[in-house]
Amino acid sequence: MLIRTLELRDFRSYESVSLRLSDGLTAIVGENGQGKTNLLEAIGWLARMGSFRGVPDDALIRIGAAAAVIRATVVGSDGREQLIEVELPRVGRNRIQLNRQRVSRARDLLGVLQVTVFSPDDLELVKGGPALRRRWIDEALVGRHPKHEALRTDLERVLKQRNALLRSVHGRLDGDAAFTLDVWDTKLATIGTAVRDARLAFLAEAVPQMSAAYDAVARRHAEVEARYQSSWEGDLAEALIENRDLDVRRGVSTVGPHRDEIALRIGGAPARTHGSQGEQRSLALALRLAADTVVRRSGVAEPVLLLDDVFSELDPGRAEALLDALPDGQRLLTTAAWLPPAASPDRVLKVAAGTVTEISTGAAGVIDGPDPVVSDGSARER
Ligand SMILES: Nc1ncnc2c1ncn2[C@@H]1O[C@H](COP(=O)(O)OP(=O)(O)OP(=O)(O)O)[C@@H](O)[C@H]1O
Ligand SMILES: [Mg+2]
Repeated sequence: MLIRTLELRDFRSYESVSLRLSDGLTAIVGENGQGKTNLLEAIGWLARMGSFRGVPDDALIRIGAAAAVIRATVVGSDGREQLIEVELPRVGRNRIQLNRQRVSRARDLLGVLQVTVFSPDDLELVKGGPALRRRWIDEALVGRHPKHEALRTDLERVLKQRNALLRSVHGRLDGDAAFTLDVWDTKLATIGTAVRDARLAFLAEAVPQMSAAYDAVARRHAEVEARYQSSWEGDLAEALIENRDLDVRRGVSTVGPHRDEIALRIGGAPARTHGSQGEQRSLALALRLAADTVVRRSGVAEPVLLLDDVFSELDPGRAEALLDALPDGQRLLTTAAWLPPAASPDRVLKVAAGTVTEISTGAAGVIDGPDPVVSDGSARER
């Protein structure tokens, strides 16, 4: 998979920018706050229909502008080129077009562009709560097959309605409410079991990849584990009945895949509480790499890698090991500080105040000087 061109209008700090992108490793360099991450965020939006920074679309529209536009040509693994255009207006609904045809459901865009994002926030995958790890696995499942997106949204809808009902009865379940709850329980049991089974199957594939990636990035062997802890045992329908009184009292659904955990351990101890900062970071990278490998091996797609500022926290040895562990293909990485000496990127783009210029690199990655082959929109493209 390859992003050939990227055009932004009124997206974040960019008034207008138009880039030609290449296969291989592209380093996006520049000082803090110049708009490096914004570029990756725009690409990420096209893949996920949302910001990987977890902000609402409104924040993506340039201050003072009425709408942001992201446009990209993407070459799929089958060699087919597709044009994705997205307009995010401040008022009204997002407009999404694929090959100049209106896409009515955002879901229909899934799979056209696949990305694997590495971000400094990934540390939270290890240090944070279970919701982030569930999101890690659920996103990877969608990468594996778009049907998982439908499963995920169905689960969300059923839980929302079940919880609304549980809250509305204020601790007392009458006949009518009990009947409605039976209906939601049947749905939750089916969808919930499917979600857990899909996660378990994915994890079985991902764990060996995770161990290998951890050893590669950390540059030493450690026993790392990722174990699925389900919030119920046996049959989910039965567990829902067993927990019904509790659910009614609390006004929430206490069992289901939304309460499951993926317990991470390094060297036999819980990674969240016992891991060092470096170990936790290596494990977070390993989780991202593992999900990427599983998707790649399934033959579904070769995701474009987006690496946002991942080297700033790694020692030079680990940074180099990470670069070595990355699969081939299109890799875009941002850095405000330094590039590992062994990085030797194919291209270097410099971002300054919303303008992107190409820098040619010498053999040792030494910067020769700016070469304005990339337009900032106001300037004419060469
Ligand atoms: N909606 C918006 N409208 C205008 N400017 C915005 C908007 N959102 C963010 N910005 C600006 O974009 C800049 C941040 O861009 P970005 O996060 O891409 O920086 P960066 O180059 O990745 O920096 P760092 O090296 O610190 O990570 C900030 O100056 C911010 O004020
Ligand atoms: Mg940044």
